[in-house]
Amino acid sequence: MGTIAVTGAASGMGASIAARLTEQGHRVIGVDLRGTDVAADLGTAEGRRAAAVEVTRLADGQLDGLVPFAGISGGANRPASLLVSVNYYGAISLLEELRPALAAAGESSVVLASSNSTTTQPGWNPKLAEACLAGDEEAACTLADSLADEGGVLTYPATKAAIAYYMRTRAADYIADGIRLNAIAPGFIDTPMTRAGRQDPKIAAGIEAFLKSVPAGRAGTPEEVMELVLFLLSAKSAYCVGTLMYCDGGIDAHLRGLDWPKVWTPQG
Ligand SMILES: NC(=O)c1ccc[n+]([C@@H]2O[C@H](COP(=O)([O-])OP(=O)(O)OC[C@H]3O[C@@H](n4cnc5c(N)ncnc54)[C@H](O)[C@@H]3O)[C@@H](O)[C@H]2O)c1
Repeated sequence: MGTIAVTGAASGMGASIAARLTEQGHRVIGVDLRGTDVAADLGTAEGRRAAAVEVTRLADGQLDGLVPFAGISGGANRPASLLVSVNYYGAISLLEELRPALAAAGESSVVLASSNSTTTQPGWNPKLAEACLAGDEEAACTLADSLADEGGVLTYPATKAAIAYYMRTRAADYIADGIRLNAIAPGFIDTPMTRAGRQDPKIAAGIEAFLKSVPAGRAGTPEEVMELVLFLLSAKSAYCVGTLMYCDGGIDAHLRGLDWPKVWTPQG
């Protein structure tokens, strides 16, 4: 049994993960805007700092797992920069602040929330993912708001690609401290985040048509993603390091079947 912090624990996949971990006897520290052990706005540096301090205190300085799943989708009236701050920095800055507590556990596991929109949604700007990775939140937010991406629809996959890139490029560094980094790329999962769209008469028909094009022919459930997260948190996945695991009913493979694996051409 361990102590595991879950962000976005008040809803959707985060709630499902927190509930199952609790059932299994783990000590779960839920973080969300409200309704959890720690209430914090992870879209701000102060909120993240306060959350990290409180999680570390509640965990007695030793964290066995972190599931930073808090996130927002693109949508009307949402500045693109908010997606950068919540989705990317709300996960990665918090992870960096909690690294000492994760290292103190000796062996720990972090499961990040990427998305299959990174490889199945055309048109997002790789420069925005690079700006996130560079670690300058203000510059990344300024770039996001300059891209004329109303509601952040194209910003969303860029933030989720940046999470995958961070996870893959930093996994070797973290494992030196005993911290395993992995990520999930869910497809369209039936949660409050996606349910609103399915009930919107303007886009509901498009979503249903899209779901029919998913090889599995349906949306995924939070529980299906939760099972993978639990596997990646557990010692059963001890040799999984730097893995981006898709859980998307087959749509990425269907659209991009020959794009990966790729021949490696070493540089230099
Ligand atoms: N649902 C999908 O189809 C899907 C697909 C791919 C990836 N994802 C990602 O999975 C994660 C979970 O998604 P979900 O569908 O369960 O969403 P959800 O909307 O059901 O839950 C997200 C939670 O994050 C919290 N949150 C939002 N902004 C926050 C902030 N500033 N500070 C603290 N908490 C905040 C919300 O309050 C909410 O409880 C997200 O990162 C999402 O981007 C979802």
